Amino acid sequence: MADDPIALTIKQMSVSYPSPRGWVQAVRDVSLQVKRGQMVGLAGESGSGKSTLAMAATRVLRPPSARIGGSVRIIGRDVFSLSVRELRAARWKTFAFVSQSAMNALNPVMSVRAQMRDAIRAHDSMYSSGNADKRCEEVLRIVDVPVNKLDSYPHQLSGGQRQRVVIALALILQPQLIIMDEPTTALDVVAQRAIIALIRRLQRQLGFAVLLITHDLTLVLEVADEVVIMYGGRVMETGASNELLGNAMHPYSRALIQSFPPLHGVMTRQEGIPGTPPDMVNPPEGCPFAARCILAKEVCLREMPVLVTHGNRAVACHHAAGNRTFGGSIQ
Ligand SMILES: Nc1ncnc2c1ncn2[C@@H]1O[C@H](COP(=O)(O)OP(=O)(O)O)[C@@H](O)[C@H]1O
Ligand SMILES: [Mg+2]
Repeated sequence: MADDPIALTIKQMSVSYPSPRGWVQAVRDVSLQVKRGQMVGLAGESGSGKSTLAMAATRVLRPPSARIGGSVRIIGRDVFSLSVRELRAARWKTFAFVSQSAMNALNPVMSVRAQMRDAIRAHDSMYSSGNADKRCEEVLRIVDVPVNKLDSYPHQLSGGQRQRVVIALALILQPQLIIMDEPTTALDVVAQRAIIALIRRLQRQLGFAVLLITHDLTLVLEVADEVVIMYGGRVMETGASNELLGNAMHPYSRALIQSFPPLHGVMTRQEGIPGTPPDMVNPPEGCPFAARCILAKEVCLREMPVLVTHGNRAVACHHAAGNRTFGGSIQ
């Protein structure tokens, strides 16, 4: 169904890695949706399962490297039932996944032009050589990199320019969904903001859907339409960014927001959230955040709270489930 209004649907996904100590339960029963033309942010501390979810959903991660459950639809197609050939055809043309390591994935001994041409030719034989060159120039212009950089090598570009080239590569065959995993972490704050603003502008202009993955919740709350917050392999809270900003319901979301400086305004020294994430080989029976949560009660240690919907938001917290005024009751 090419007219499916949902670009990405992940349903009840669970992913575990084999390890000498047992299965690392990196993603546990995660569902999320990205509508066409929408930007959804996937945020959470390092180790919360964001990259694992994205890699499993795009079949970059597959058995036997991991045990994977659940289902994924991208632009109306069941990703897990695609043949290898169909998957290869869909990648870059229907969806692009820019992995966390893509920043370093530009080939150091190939010019920008050669890498872009390769990407086009590998996936779309319809392009003639002249048209491919035209598309390279066009897409470089779109990401605000001077066209004369086409014949440069990655080391001749700034970090921000390299990241723009990676984005240009993702855009080159006009996919309808782009998943970007930590696209700005290696950059300084100014370059980070410029890249995020660029992604947002392109997304609005060109109309593709984006799943933007980052450990910086403040950043996605400022740019994404909706946000999904993960911890310990689970979804802790979801909702529209404008509702979540300043009114997060989950103590983890609040702690995360407080541990990042706002994009605009005064920079103050920020502390991370005290404590360490749970051991995912033996995840706690109750709420994964309970051991670090200032509000934890006995029930939090004992029972995993279910994700409860509150209007168009959802939160997995015993406090929120039992207390409708919870949003305003803790600081
Ligand atoms: N190849 C692997 N083998 C075993 N455990 C892994 C592997 N990759 C990631 N993990 C573990 O899975 C969990 C989720 O990791 P990851 O998806 O990278 O989180 P995030 O992207 O949110 O930082 C972490 O506990 C991490 O240590
Ligand atoms: Mg990651």
